[in-house]
Amino acid sequence: MAQRNFFVGGNWKMNGNKESLEELISTLNTASLHDQTEVVCGAPSIYLDFARCMLDLRIGVAAQNCYNVAKGAFTGEISPAMIKDCGAEWVILGHSERRHVFGESDELIGQKVAHALESDLSVIACIGEKLEEREAGTTEEVVYAQTQVISENVSDWGKVVLAYEPVWAIGTGKTASPEQAQEVHEKLRAWLRSNVSDDVADSVRIIYGGSVTAGNCRELASQNDVDGFLVGGASLKPEFIEIINARA
Ligand code: PGA
Repeated sequence: MAQRNFFVGGNWKMNGNKESLEELISTLNTASLHDQTEVVCGAPSIYLDFARCMLDLRIGVAAQNCYNVAKGAFTGEISPAMIKDCGAEWVILGHSERRHVFGESDELIGQKVAHALESDLSVIACIGEKLEEREAGTTEEVVYAQTQVISENVSDWGKVVLAYEPVWAIGTGKTASPEQAQEVHEKLRAWLRSNVSDDVADSVRIIYGGSVTAGNCRELASQNDVDGFLVGGASLKPEFIEIINARA
């Protein structure tokens, strides 16, 4: 079976300034980080260049969004080409805040995934159900449909990490239990096995996001199908290092 290196992404969202990010970056640069864990920090687009220049090269940099074409009259947007030009290697797409605060459709997210991969960026593709969907028992249906659209647009699964982030757990302090996370991750892997291939099912990292902290990361990380985390609030604090080292 393929070896899946643990993957921990930090999503700084729209937080920080040069002063606070410099402090965070120097904490990360000097920390002892588990060498089998891939670490990527998602910086606000205006700080991508700054983050890439300051962060140690063992830590990757991600944009938090991008548009679906290389350039043109799209005021306020950024392209994968620009992200790459700043030296960043990753982009987070389909985050619940993009879906639900900014109204991005599955279709647009799919187009962004396709264009980012064509542009040789790696993609952290996010999916997850809302509270009312979980309560209505439609979690699987929702995450399969979101994964389907992503999957139709993936040209190279080697450059994709799938982030399961239940919307009700994001920024709420309400983490999915290790069993709840494992259950969905296992089902997503089975979906990949049936709809893509054995090889992709075995090799794609499925990471969990939603109120991950230093306190809950080890138990979550011990689940078979939890291959890492996407961390919001705690990625801005020194405890992010403990989360990176959850499998150490
Ligand atoms: P949170 O955010 O860790 O603050 O819940 C996770 C995310 O939105 O990726």
